[in-house]
This record gives sequence, C-alpha cells and structure tokens, in this order.
Amino acid sequence: MRTIIKHNITRDSMYEHCRFHSDEIRNKRILVTGGAGFIGSNIVNYLLLHGAEFVRVVDDLSNGFTHNVEPFKKYKNFEFIQGSITDEAFCRKVTSGIGIVTHQAALGSVPRSISTPLATHAANATGFLNMLVAARDEGVERFVYASSSSVYGDAPQLPKLEQNLGRPLSPYAVSKLTNELYANVFALNYGLKVIGLRYFNVFGPHQDPNGPYAAAIPLFMDAVLNHKKAYINGDGNQTRDFTYVENAVQANIKAMFCTQDEAFGKVYNVAVGENVTINQLFRIIAKTAGSSLKPVYREERPGDIRDSLADISLAKKYLGYSPQVKLEQGIHTTFDWFRSAFRNQI
Ligand SMILES: NC(=O)c1ccc[n+]([C@@H]2O[C@H](COP(=O)([O-])OP(=O)(O)OC[C@H]3O[C@@H](n4cnc5c(N)ncnc54)[C@H](O)[C@@H]3O)[C@@H](O)[C@H]2O)c1
Repeated sequence: MRTIIKHNITRDSMYEHCRFHSDEIRNKRILVTGGAGFIGSNIVNYLLLHGAEFVRVVDDLSNGFTHNVEPFKKYKNFEFIQGSITDEAFCRKVTSGIGIVTHQAALGSVPRSISTPLATHAANATGFLNMLVAARDEGVERFVYASSSSVYGDAPQLPKLEQNLGRPLSPYAVSKLTNELYANVFALNYGLKVIGLRYFNVFGPHQDPNGPYAAAIPLFMDAVLNHKKAYINGDGNQTRDFTYVENAVQANIKAMFCTQDEAFGKVYNVAVGENVTINQLFRIIAKTAGSSLKPVYREERPGDIRDSLADISLAKKYLGYSPQVKLEQGIHTTFDWFRSAFRNQI
C-alpha cells in the first residue's frame, strides 16, 4: 500500500519554461479527459495556473488517482467527474458547454494491450470515437488528442517523420492509429478541428512507478531510491526520445490555441528530437541519485519497437512547438519530485 506524503510538491513551481497563451486560456472552458492521470493532471495544472475560465476533468480512475486532482479542488472553476468514456451518453453529458477538449484518457502500455486487447480497444478506440461524436454534436471548437510514437511500429527510418508509418506491433499501437484515422475522417466529414499529438516516452512528476505496466523512468527512480532491482528488457541498447512532461504540456497548449488553419487535421511528433539508449538513461538516473545500483537484464518485451527518435519540425512549423526541457534537466526535476513524494513510501 502506497502513501504519498507530498504529492503536490512541484505543482505551483512548474512551468517556468512554459508560459503560453495565458490570455486565450482565460476565457475558455476546457475538458481534459484522463485528467487524473500523469500527463492529463500536468495539463490541468497549467490551465488552472493560467486562469482558465473552467476546467473539467473526466476520468474513470482505472489508472489515474484522486490525489492527482485533489489539489485542484481549491479552484472554484474546476470540476472532476468520475466516469468512463466507453459510455456514449456520459461523453455527451461531460462535453456539453465545452469549447476545447484535450483528450488524454486511454489505457496506456504496450504489454497491457497484449494481455488485455479488448480493454485497450474499449477505452482507446471505442472511447475515443465516443468522444469525437460528442465533440461533433456539442459543437466543440477544438479537439486535441494524445496519439503515440508506437504508431511507427516496424518502420525502420530514423528520425521518425509523421508520414513514414510501419505496421503496428501491438493492440495499443493499433488503437492509437485508429484514433488518428477517425480524427482525420471527422475533420474531413464534419469539419471538426482536430490535432493529434504523437507523444514519445513522456516522463516527469506524477508518473506512477507502481503496477505491472509502469514505465522505465519511474521504475528506475523507485529502484535507486528504495534499493529495489532495476530491470532492463533486452540488451539496453534500444533507444528512446524521452520527453519531459512540460514539453508535452506545451504541445497541448499550443495545439489548443494555434491560429494556423493548416495546422488542423494533422498529427505531430511531440518529443525533443534527441535519443539515448536505455543503458545511458539508467546511468544518468543512477548518477543523479548518487547510486551505484547495477541494472538486471532480462528478456526483450514483445511489441516493443527497437529505436525511436523524432523529427519535430512539423510541430515546430505548424504549432510553434519548441521543447524547452532536455533529458538531463527533466531527470533532475523528476528525481527531486520522486525523492520528496515517494521515498520509502512505495
Ligand atoms: N506517458 C507516455 O509516455 C505516453 C506516450 C505516448 C502516448 N501516451 C498517451 O497519452 C495519454 C496520457 O497518458 P499518461 O501517461 O498520462 O497515462 P495515465 O494512465 O497516467 O493517464 C490516462 C488516464 O486515463 C484514464 N482512463 C483510462 N481509461 C479511461 C476510460 N475508459 N474513461 C475515463 N478515463 C479513463 C486513466 O484512469 C488515467 O487517469 C494516453 O492517451 C496515452 O496513451 C502516453
């Protein structure tokens, strides 16, 4: 059983690198699906700190936490509604009166989707379609949504350019590709203003280190802080373009308020445009922690892509996206957060 001692430690101090569209945010009513999760709660934090007229979070708490939204309850213009986007009527209800949707709700994780493809499909594909229909029918002005670098599948090209897709390698990747296809069809047929964001391995404060589907960075931080084993799948030479969460928040804000008409109906890589191996990542985290822990190597995971590196020029051109936080700086901030929030508490 986990106790969190200071879950809100960096909430008010984050985003010194990221101040965008404060004026536009002030008169917007925004729905954040999945807002009790990691990325969603970081987006909500930004919106509330910058004076959004109204922010509603919808989350079924299947993978999110009430402690992620608890600090927001002090805002009168904040509302949390628990429920599932797999329920079409619920989606319509929560989208009513909303100007902008940023859709983050989904069941993440490639291995989870291989274990339970129906659950992944229900939340990620059916839930997504429910939200698109609701957004269309309720007259939503903008619909920004989370896609994933997993859609590149077995495409060998590096860096990843948005148009060079391979075959998806997991049900999760299929569900995210389905999102992109549906979003484009809704743009085409109903004129819905959609923007997709293909996140590349996002990390930062409020990412959950627990459970079988936790991501590498929170797992490594938990391991070095609490003297647990740190597992690396495969030889550790696979590469990833790790993206600090503030950069992902920036991409969302810029997509929500972008003014270029040509930006809509497209999907954009959201990353830093630099990659490291998992072995390098582990060494950076161990050094940050002053730990001499050595990783334990185990079998490669099915469904994982080998190498990942984003070309971010499309997001720069159409959204004005410009990642401000690089890997090592993000690791330091994240480590400080984990140390304060979770040490000996997991
Ligand atoms: N974290 C990453 O590195 C990464 C990379 C690529 C894409 N993404 C995508 O970004 C989005 C946010 O990811 P995250 O890392 O914050 O994950 P997360 O699990 O922390 O957040 C997702 C939230 O969605 C909620 N949710 C799941 N199913 C739901 C349903 N049926 N109805 C309502 N809420 C539901 C969960 O309870 C959770 O709070 C997801 O769409 C994910 O697929 C994340």
